[in-house]
Amino acid sequence: MDKLVSLAKRRGFVFQSSEIYGGLGSVWDYGPLGVELKKNLKERWWRSMVHERQDIEGLDAAILMHPKVWEASGHVSGFTDPLVDCKQCKNRFRADDPRIKGTPGQPDAQCPVCGSKGTLTAPRQFNLMFKTFMGPVEEQAAVTYLRPETAQGIYVNYLNVLQSSRQKIPFGIAQIGKAFRNEITPGNFIFRTREFEQMEMQFFVKPGSENEWFEFWRAERMKWVEGLGIRSEKLRWHQHDQNELAHYAKDAYDIQYEFPFGWQEFEGIHNRTDFDLSNHQKHAGKKLDYLDPKTNERFIPYVVETSAGADRTTLVVLCDAYREEGVSGAEAAEGEGEGGGSGETRVVLKLKPSLAPLKAAVFPLVNKDGMPELAHRIHDDLRRHFNVFFDDGGSIGRRYRRQDEAGTPFGVTIDGQSTQDQTVTVRDRDTLKQDRVAAAKLVEYLTQKLAG
Ligand code: GAP
Repeated sequence: MDKLVSLAKRRGFVFQSSEIYGGLGSVWDYGPLGVELKKNLKERWWRSMVHERQDIEGLDAAILMHPKVWEASGHVSGFTDPLVDCKQCKNRFRADDPRIKGTPGQPDAQCPVCGSKGTLTAPRQFNLMFKTFMGPVEEQAAVTYLRPETAQGIYVNYLNVLQSSRQKIPFGIAQIGKAFRNEITPGNFIFRTREFEQMEMQFFVKPGSENEWFEFWRAERMKWVEGLGIRSEKLRWHQHDQNELAHYAKDAYDIQYEFPFGWQEFEGIHNRTDFDLSNHQKHAGKKLDYLDPKTNERFIPYVVETSAGADRTTLVVLCDAYREEGVSGAEAAEGEGEGGGSGETRVVLKLKPSLAPLKAAVFPLVNKDGMPELAHRIHDDLRRHFNVFFDDGGSIGRRYRRQDEAGTPFGVTIDGQSTQDQTVTVRDRDTLKQDRVAAAKLVEYLTQKLAG
């Protein structure tokens, strides 16, 4: 994991927030390559959930919502973690922190940070929502929250979307947006952070059909995840037992990935029943039931939710793509001039080409004999179609290696022959094979290779 974190910083994928001030705990910023990778992932999700389906509409609800939303949703009373404080060193821990020895609140309990015995308080419930104030007065009446999930913005707009889009049940609403949780034991890079992005879809169905839709969405979501190119042996399902279920869920399955720190979830499929809509109906005093035009029945729809973290899925993609490969023979020759040779290690991000931040890099082999001019012309042409990079610094092997680390799938080299016959070589990041392609056909060639 340390190697990936260091590559992410070095190559401009992810930086620590406010780093020059010593950083802000578990908040991260996406650099030039990271923002492209995450954007590609989100666009892929949006395309498959919204554009390719007739029964799902998109939404972009505000982060700030009426404070009563969070009472109705159960987050004010139920979105809590049991915490203990050390009276000696003032640190705060989750009550189930595996580093705590003994029983918090009892004389035998030992603080995992300062080592004092008997200084840990008994567990107390701590709400994970970030509180803030609306308007000029900081008083209880002005309290509101940064949303801890995007789902509630969908529920409170369910009737607006239903009526304006003329959808009929079953149908869904999808949204991508920021969520905030004051996590107590955040960590593992962008795995658990205090500010993160979710890609959530709520599918509204007739009561009684939710199990069928639950299975449908489980299959769909796994198919989508596999389509990211993630190795299937690194993926598995985990069904929540009664102790793990969130306050709103009747059934829940996580899609887990085997991260370097173990198997962990990055997406959940939840049967939320009519929990949220019924509670909003009650708290808002507004009817949220649905009149089935075919049967004239009225009912509050059940909800099957698919909830993925954009940051966590980005981490899955990065972890799965990161490879260190032994280099020998011809490959070593390619890396000549970078301290290479047999026995050298090639660090490569084997990202699916359509997800890669940069699709190609353009290299003049040497900075003379008309090669830079032709390379610039080709770069300008490609730039109108793809996110591409120009690099004329250092040996060609070193330039290839830099793009391997960035996950760039194709290297376009302009050599002596190019100025004669207007062809270039295209090096494949994964096979290291080179094709000679007419410059005029390059856009078509890359478009084909980037599909999928
Ligand atoms: N609306 C349902 C919901 O929010 P969740 O299991 O709490 O369910 C869904 O969160 C997804 O959001 C998780 O699978 C994860 O990918 C992402 N997520 C949740 N908390 C996160 C955090 N603190 N940091 C990064 N991602 C988080």
